[in-house]
Amino acid sequence: MTDPVADRQRLVPPLLIAVEGVDGSGKSGVARAIAAGLRAAGIDPVTTREPGGTPEGESLRALILAGKDDTWDPASELLLMTAARVQHVRHVIQPALAQGRVIVSDRFVGSTIAYQGAGRGLSVDFIRHLHEQTVGPVWPDLTVLLDVDAATGLARSRKRLADAQIDEGRFEGLHLAFHQRIRQSFLDQARGAPDRHLVIDASPAPDAVQAAALAGVRARLGIGAV
Ligand code: TYD
Repeated sequence: MTDPVADRQRLVPPLLIAVEGVDGSGKSGVARAIAAGLRAAGIDPVTTREPGGTPEGESLRALILAGKDDTWDPASELLLMTAARVQHVRHVIQPALAQGRVIVSDRFVGSTIAYQGAGRGLSVDFIRHLHEQTVGPVWPDLTVLLDVDAATGLARSRKRLADAQIDEGRFEGLHLAFHQRIRQSFLDQARGAPDRHLVIDASPAPDAVQAAALAGVRARLGIGAV
């Protein structure tokens, strides 16, 4: 018996899609919308997130995000993010790619380059080297970058955290210049590899941003609207 989802899945090569952006850019909603759009087209994606994606990674996430701004030395923060990613790549991403799956990850190594590199001031060359030495050449095939002014993103995410009474706002507490450096780093990463980035204006309302992101992903994957 043929399995239509499996048949459709085979038409798209195994693919790692990362959704990136400053805090409050609407990544999580966009990641969900992309996954739903892929499902509607008969592709069953693996959805995951960083830091996190495995039980060990989620424990590390809780440790990192519960700290105050100066709890972790930037180098410790980099190593914890990297430890979470190694588990994620070994136990989730590589097995899924080996099965021919499409993966949609809410953040990936681009966030480390932006936050620990541009934000905290660690060497971006070192971060790239550390990535290659620990997980190997596992880079996103496509990064959906949600670009929004850092002040707008910060205001949105502070409101969201306050409304939901979530105490996971470690990076939201940092000053505006930090977030502006992060936005610039994401834009620089996109400029350095335009064929592997899709830059979406994330200032409109969430529905419009999600629709634009999904349309862009469909176009890149060559799967028309359903
Ligand atoms: P996330 O849950 O995406 O934040 P939110 O959904 O609230 O915008 O990510 C948590 C925080 O972790 C976010 O502020 C960015 C930060 N982060 C890093 O500093 N380095 C990294 O490598 C990753 C993956 C995330």
